[in-house]
Amino acid sequence: MSGLLTSIAVTGVLPILVFLWPAPPKGQKKTAIKVSLAKAVTDIQNGEAVQFYAPKTPNSAFIMADGGGDNAPGDLAFGGFLVKDDQGKVRCLAINCSHLGCSVAINSTKKSFDCPCHGSRFHFDGTVLHGPAAYPLSDLTWRQDGGDPNSISVDGIILGF
Ligand code: FES
Repeated sequence: MSGLLTSIAVTGVLPILVFLWPAPPKGQKKTAIKVSLAKAVTDIQNGEAVQFYAPKTPNSAFIMADGGGDNAPGDLAFGGFLVKDDQGKVRCLAINCSHLGCSVAINSTKKSFDCPCHGSRFHFDGTVLHGPAAYPLSDLTWRQDGGDPNSISVDGIILGF
């Protein structure tokens, strides 16, 4: 009788425990994601932006360091920009528009990031140039990848293989 009660308790309680404390997804790992750029960091001109994407093999994403509006620290981005301002300072920005998350695109002529969804525009430093977005683009944490001038490492996560 006690064996029957035990097996009923296990089969009834175990699914509830698994629901409340699911196992972490297999294969996910926070790490620095190596990114190949179209040109060396030192060759990016002042007032120029270079776009890059997270690798698909393994499936990866970048982790936003800050944010506002639709973006928040810890949110994921599948692309970004390395931008050199007119003084030569380099920033790394996530591709996600802070309004509702569409991917912004480089407007080289106007030196802005333009969103195709609702018309928001951002300066190359990520600040809002034109709404409806009310918050700047999110920063990504990056560093120069040792030895390879065309590579950087960006804080991110491997989502799976
Ligand atoms: S999502 Fe970019 S303006 Fe709305």
